[in-house]
Order: sequence, then structure tokens, then C-alpha cells
Amino acid sequence: MTYFHYRQSTLYCEKVNIERLTRAVPTPFYLYSYNSLASSYKTISTAFAPVDPLIAYSMKANFSWAICQSLAGLGCGFDIVSGGELRQALRTGVRPEKILFAGVGKLPEEIEHAIKADILMFNIESLPEAYVIEEVAKILGKKTRAAIRVNPDIDPDTHKYITTGTKEDKFGVNFAAAFDAIREICALPHIEFMGLHSHIGSQLLNPDSYIKTLKRLQVMIRKLDQSGIRIRTLNLGGGFGIAYEEDQKAFDIAQLARKIVATVQSLGCQLILEPGRFLVGPAGVLITKVLYVKRRANKTFVIVDAGMNDLIRPSLYAAHHRIIPVKDHQRQIEKNVDIVGPVCESADFLGLSRRFPAVEPGEYLAVCDAGAYGYVMASNYNFRSRCAEVMVRNSRHYVIRDREQLREISKHEKLPSFLKKGQKKR
Ligand code: LLP
Repeated sequence: MTYFHYRQSTLYCEKVNIERLTRAVPTPFYLYSYNSLASSYKTISTAFAPVDPLIAYSMKANFSWAICQSLAGLGCGFDIVSGGELRQALRTGVRPEKILFAGVGKLPEEIEHAIKADILMFNIESLPEAYVIEEVAKILGKKTRAAIRVNPDIDPDTHKYITTGTKEDKFGVNFAAAFDAIREICALPHIEFMGLHSHIGSQLLNPDSYIKTLKRLQVMIRKLDQSGIRIRTLNLGGGFGIAYEEDQKAFDIAQLARKIVATVQSLGCQLILEPGRFLVGPAGVLITKVLYVKRRANKTFVIVDAGMNDLIRPSLYAAHHRIIPVKDHQRQIEKNVDIVGPVCESADFLGLSRRFPAVEPGEYLAVCDAGAYGYVMASNYNFRSRCAEVMVRNSRHYVIRDREQLREISKHEKLPSFLKKGQKKR
């Protein structure tokens, strides 16, 4: 919380008074601290400095231009999963040789754009995909590069929706089939085989699952070595968890680095990491206003102006986000408080059964650690517009995205001709 802190009982983002900011920007809005981004980036780059890794920010966590531009400026490359993310990465001016393209459902046209842009490599998720990449590269008369995503069948301790490296998951090529798949890929004339990729899940708090993964990959690397295939890159994915709960500790990057740097050095290949949440999660909060408070016998509902359409993580994953008042003066603590949004769904909540200060309508709350998978997962449910985003650096704030206008939501709608007549009658 260093970048979001109380000063004289008022919450600040760096040196910006959030209460004052709400007078300039209507709620709800996401608020990001630039210096928090920079500090998280530094934590990773310092820990792994001895092997000089490529830190490819996983843009799916937050694709906003200013966020991407900030991270590119700090030295990040990008892990992308769509043509849109490719466009956004290139927009930052990052060198294409720092872009990696992952995802199980790459479209031929996305593959074509990526090859034309000359990105560093694809992370291939299946053999049929390798054949499509080969075909597209052949038509373009270019040779492209690719790693294979190996599914190591390791179950990390996280929510089942964000576990990706067990054999039940759709991701990657099964460990048992990977060796043959690699040989097949090596035989494709328009693909240069680069190495191994694995990403076992998100919000992991224990380095052990990475160590287990690395051990499995080493088995594969030895086998490849014996058949004359040398890997140039080793990509351990993202997934470094953050401390959403008060008693949690963020993933210990330095500890992981200490445990694996020597192995990586002995393999003599380029290490790639794809952190998303770790870089942007703690750097963002969602600022929301209390609209109404309903006090019932055993329960209080605090109804705020941000809902599941703005931040879906609590509804979708039962994720916990700390929620704190922007004004932290002494007051009674209520038990069993649900902080809920205005959306017409019982699942529309930001926090459930909390012990919470007795807040009143008109005051502001901050939903913490909302910088990752927040804005990017927002929707127009209930015909609500997507909210604004603001970035703070030192004592200045910058609106980095305006709140969507309702007419922008309608912009792409069309009426079929048979309904147009009916419209005139009214
Ligand atoms: N690399 C790959 C191949 C991935 O699939 C992901 C995330 C990452 C890197 C970045 O993971 P991170 O460092 O952010 O944990 N919406 C969910 C998280 C989905 C993660 C999907 N893949 C949530 O809100 O928790």
C-alpha cells in the first residue's frame, strides 16, 4: 500500500488527494499509480538481473494504452493473445522482437499480422496451430519463430478457473506428446523452433509450483538435447500472485529467482517471464461512491455506484478485494456488511460479509488491488457505460481514458428494415 496511503485520514494515491480527485473525475473510475508499476517492474528485473530475462508484460491483465506505454518505457516486452493486443503493443513503439503471441485460438489473420510485424515468436498451443502458422508463413514467404507451450500437468494452489497447467485444461501440448510435437515443428521449413513455454496458472503464491515445472521441463530439455535439438528460450509464464487479503504475502519473486537462476544459467538459454497481475494489480484501485445504505436487523447493504460490470472478479471467482473508505475517520464498525453494486443481480457484489466502518451516502470507497483484470473485464451489462481510468504520477493526475458515452454503446447498433416502420409510428 505504499502508493495508496492515508495522510491526515484521507486516502492518497502517491501525492494526489483522492477525495479532491473525485471532484474532477466522476465515479466510478479506476485509479493507477505509475510509481507502483515502476516499483513492481523493478522487483522482478532486479531479482532476475543475473540472467537478464525478457519481461514480457501479459497485456491481458490491463491493456490500457498508458499502462502499456509505461511498462514499455520501463523495459517490458509484451505477451499478447489477440490481434487487438498486437496492435496495442506496437502502438507503444516497443521493438517487435519483444513481443510473444500466446493463446489457444489464434486466427490466421492474426498470425499473418504478427508474422508481418516480425514479432519475437508464437507460443504454439497445439500441432494443428503449428501447421496454420507454417502455412501462413509460407504464403508470406517468411520464416517465423515459435516456442511450444508444454502443459506440465501441475496443479498449483489457485482458483480452478485460473489454473492452466493441468491435463484437464485446454492449454498447451500435453507433456507426453510434447517431444514428438517439437520434432514435428522442427521439421517445418518456415518455423524456427525457439524453446519451451509453460504457464501453469494465475495468482500463485508459492514458488514451489514453478520449481516443479522447471524440473519437468529440464527432463524435456535433456531429451531434446540427446536428439540434437537445443532450446534458445525458456519461458516460465506469469502467475506471480499478489496480496489481496490483509494476512497474505505477495509472491516472493526474489526467493524464486534465488532458487532458479543457477539452473537457468546452466541451461544457457534466454529466460522469459510473462507477469501480468504482479505488475499492474497493486497499482490500481477502483474508486466508487456510496449511493445508499440499507440497514437491516442482521445485515447492512452498502450500495455503491460501481458494479460487477466494472469489476467482475468478486462475482466470477469469489475473489476478495480489500475495500477501504477514502475518508478514514474514527467511527463505529458494523458487522456483516455487503458492499454491492447497482446491477440487477444478486451476484453483483464487490465485498461480502465484511466488518466495515459505518459509511454514509455520498462518501467514497476504494476497492484495492483492482489494476489487473479489472477494467479489461468490464462490460456494458445493464446498459452501463465503462468507467474512466486515471493515472497518477507524483502529484499530478492524468485521465487516461474517458468514461464511455452511452451513445458510444449504441453506435454499432442497427435496426432491421422491418422494424424501422414501427419506430416511426411512435
Ligand atoms: N501468460 C499466460 C500464457 C497467461 O495465460 C496468463 C494469464 C499470464 C501469462 C499472466 O498471468 P498473471 O501474471 O496475470 O497471473 N481473469 C483472471 C486471471 C486470468 C489469467 C489468464 N492468464 C483473474 O481475474 O484472476
